[in-house]
Amino acid sequence: MDKLTVNNKIINMDIDPDTPLLWVLRDNLGMTGTKYACGKGLCGACTVLIDNKPIRSCITPIKNIINKRITTIEGLPENLLQTIEQVWTETGASECGYCQPGQVMSALALIIEKPRPTDVDIDTAMSGNLCRCGIYQRIRKAIYQLAAVGIPENIHNG
Ligand code: FES
Ligand code: FES
Repeated sequence: MDKLTVNNKIINMDIDPDTPLLWVLRDNLGMTGTKYACGKGLCGACTVLIDNKPIRSCITPIKNIINKRITTIEGLPENLLQTIEQVWTETGASECGYCQPGQVMSALALIIEKPRPTDVDIDTAMSGNLCRCGIYQRIRKAIYQLAAVGIPENIHNG
């Protein structure tokens, strides 16, 4: 029996340790905010945070993240989600929305590490998050705006 810490909750799991985290989140825990797209670590749709660093959950077996802190889009505090929604709406940084949970999690990891990111910082941090709608400039604007507003020191609920 392995223990995973997802959004501040300790979860006992009896699952094949090679199972990718994405399927545990979506199928076992019903957390469908994290999206499946390429399944090969190439697009960033499935990005979640492990100890505040972005990882591709579709290629991360749970055996690699036992005793680490997993944060998904569902685990963000309400006030932060409201701020993100407001900034993303103001900047038009969403079209179909499919890539957005992954974009948001990568953006948060960036702002945690670099509260005032530059263009280069954003390019580097976000290069693995693809958007089929091609609204990269609007996402960049949203990241600048979110960084300017600021995010809580603790981005975890509870
Ligand atoms: S679905 Fe994981 S990187 Fe594309
Ligand atoms: S908003 Fe549609 S894929 Fe990015």
